[in-house]
Amino acid sequence: RTLNWNPSLVEKRGFRHFMLKEIHEQPGVIRDSLEDRIGDRGSPVRLGLPTDLFAGLERIYIIACGTSWHASLVGKYLIESLSGLPTEVNYASEFRYNLPPLSDRILVIGVTQSGETADTIEALKVAHQQGVRILGITNRPESSLGQKYEHIIDTRAGLEIGVAATKTFTSQLIAFYLLALQLAHLRDTQTPERIHEILTGLQQLPTHIENILDTQERYITELAREFDATRDFIFVGRGLNYPIALEGALKLKEISYIHAEGYPAGEMKHGPIALLDAAVPVVAIAVPGKVYEKVLSNAQEAKARDARLIGVAPLDDPAAVETFDQILPVPVVDELLSPILTVVPLQLLAYHIAARRGLDVDQPRNLAKSVTVE
Ligand code: G6P
Repeated sequence: RTLNWNPSLVEKRGFRHFMLKEIHEQPGVIRDSLEDRIGDRGSPVRLGLPTDLFAGLERIYIIACGTSWHASLVGKYLIESLSGLPTEVNYASEFRYNLPPLSDRILVIGVTQSGETADTIEALKVAHQQGVRILGITNRPESSLGQKYEHIIDTRAGLEIGVAATKTFTSQLIAFYLLALQLAHLRDTQTPERIHEILTGLQQLPTHIENILDTQERYITELAREFDATRDFIFVGRGLNYPIALEGALKLKEISYIHAEGYPAGEMKHGPIALLDAAVPVVAIAVPGKVYEKVLSNAQEAKARDARLIGVAPLDDPAAVETFDQILPVPVVDELLSPILTVVPLQLLAYHIAARRGLDVDQPRNLAKSVTVE
């Protein structure tokens, strides 16, 4: 009997594309990135970073590009809301030539999955020359970033092959949760109980993602058929899930070449709503929490313009069922943890729309996995 096997299928472990394989690797990556990093009450987070890296800090700047920039926007929200430390996120290519006033009381965090992005590496270099402290977040500790700077959080996502980042994104988010909790502990801005609660919630995320992948893949594959002729998509979210709307739009445009924009849901009425009609689907991320009702009412405004409404939302909530034409359900968790779950259906949606179009999902036109020119 001859064994029929195709080496590239083996590498992809039976998945049609690396991107799909990497989407499915996310539960394992999150488990790895939390492994041995959760401690006890006295030292709840163990990232192997010296406490003097954080002593007397006045401000944080996070610099990144692309998907890493979206992870950084979530990171800003986490750091500010958990530790109270003012944090700004900048595009590396902008920061590089428009430096804010910097000093040794400032921490600059560079976030890059490849560890090689020239814009980010160069921006870190000029900031470093101004005497700031530097922290890198990457899954490639062996990269230029990892080699150059002493303080690195390895997100442990390993190598990512698909050009559209998926598992590296969620692993960067995990790094930001741990960092924000460490800052909250050091600055005494959250109770040990709250810190413990979030850490426990983080440990439950892999199982929730497994459930989303098990239950939604087939449905999203079917749903994707309905967008064969769609030319534009709008993604909206608020708060922590605004960056996820940006990421959902970026994933879709990168691999399907469909024009897609992400907006803060509350901004729709200040311009973008003029774009809406029955040909433009709107994907709204609406999870229970501070802005849930607001997002639902923003979504209803879109519906009044005949837009097809897809909600990344809880399945059983009557308000969500009433509002959306379709729901990509996500389990209800602490709102703070929701971005790690809400991004998964959006990754699948982008993937299945692009795969149906027969496009080269892993190597989209004009894009590179690591951009080493400024
Ligand atoms: C390229 C990739 C994007 C990525 C961006 C930043 O443009 O195509 O997927 O998000 O670079 O990459 P980095 O390696 O710095 O995270």
